[in-house]
Amino acid sequence: MYLTNEEEKALEGEFGEALEKAMRILVAIGEVYGAERLIKISSAHISGVSYKTIGDAGLDFLQDLASLGAKVRVKTTLNPCGMDPIKWRSLGIIDEDFAKKQMKIIESYTHMGVEPTLTCTPYYISNVPKYGEDIAWAESSAVIYANSVIGAKTNREGAPSALAAAIVGKTPMYGYHLEENRIGTEKIIVKMDLEDPADYGALGIYVARMNVKVPYFVLDGKALNLSIYVKYLGAALAAEGSVAMMHIEGFTPEWNKYKHEFSDKIIVEKDDIKEIFEEKSCEDEEDLIALGCPHLSVEELRGLLKYRPKRTTWISIGMDMYKAHKDLINELERRGYIIAKGTCFVVSPIERKFKVTATNSGKASKYLPSFCKQCVILRRTKDLLVISDENSC
Ligand code: F3S
Repeated sequence: MYLTNEEEKALEGEFGEALEKAMRILVAIGEVYGAERLIKISSAHISGVSYKTIGDAGLDFLQDLASLGAKVRVKTTLNPCGMDPIKWRSLGIIDEDFAKKQMKIIESYTHMGVEPTLTCTPYYISNVPKYGEDIAWAESSAVIYANSVIGAKTNREGAPSALAAAIVGKTPMYGYHLEENRIGTEKIIVKMDLEDPADYGALGIYVARMNVKVPYFVLDGKALNLSIYVKYLGAALAAEGSVAMMHIEGFTPEWNKYKHEFSDKIIVEKDDIKEIFEEKSCEDEEDLIALGCPHLSVEELRGLLKYRPKRTTWISIGMDMYKAHKDLINELERRGYIIAKGTCFVVSPIERKFKVTATNSGKASKYLPSFCKQCVILRRTKDLLVISDENSC
């Protein structure tokens, strides 16, 4: 891979050990994927934040890097951590040791200049890339959203490579940074209505199982709240498969930019999606209802005022959303919802308290059994909550 003089010096350690380590990661990745050179990025988003997932080894790595003086050079935001950093005691699943170590992880990141937004939907408030920008994001649901809905360009970074890119301010030029890899590869005709996040998620799971690469959707039925619920389709595609980019005819910004080359045409009907719901229908009754995977938008939060919880109901949101809409969030709390801010029910140790979780998220339905030992139920929002008799304004 071609490196500028400055990049060569950084790789040789002339600008310090932290930059050298970050450069080594990027050069190794660039060489594996045949990147021609490094390109500048406008932002990074980092996963690998929960103590539950990265453990002591991850904490040690971050503390070492921070002590070497590592600093990010571009706007960099952080994925959810393993607990609500403010109200962790009240959720009843976190002990002192977990909390102490979780806070140290966040401190290490902030020491490096990373913003502790603790959200997987940074694109709402805290980190909003523009069309065509090169970025280096981890968190697969945010990657597919950025590529497909915003038209920014990112590969599916891992936690170390996103952090390395943030420290260098660059990323190797390969994969989805190149137009030839953004072309649609399978045409998916959806002959059914999509009315709820759960429908979008079930569709994502079904299509991901066809081993698609860059699916190009034609939505033949109704697509209710497409601009809000599209994140559930992307998140499920990314979790069930390894999809990082999709097109939706007439909706996503690059749908008519390329001459797509379809190797397959797949028709999806109502009965196909019904099978996904049947597969994810634990026989036991749920003891937790989990909403907000990916983290909720302000429109979705307002929509929840129409309902009230019928049993323990977690809502996951980012710290940026919490700070921007405190009154709305206090009102939801007053109505009985539990606001899990800066975290989510997948990356926190909910298995310490719950056994059966019902959710409207396809992605969560994929991860809850393996990450949290949950028996899972995928269900539409209106069937998880009850209509509220209070005014929704
Ligand atoms: Fe976000 Fe957690 Fe789901 S990080 S996408 S809410 S698994």
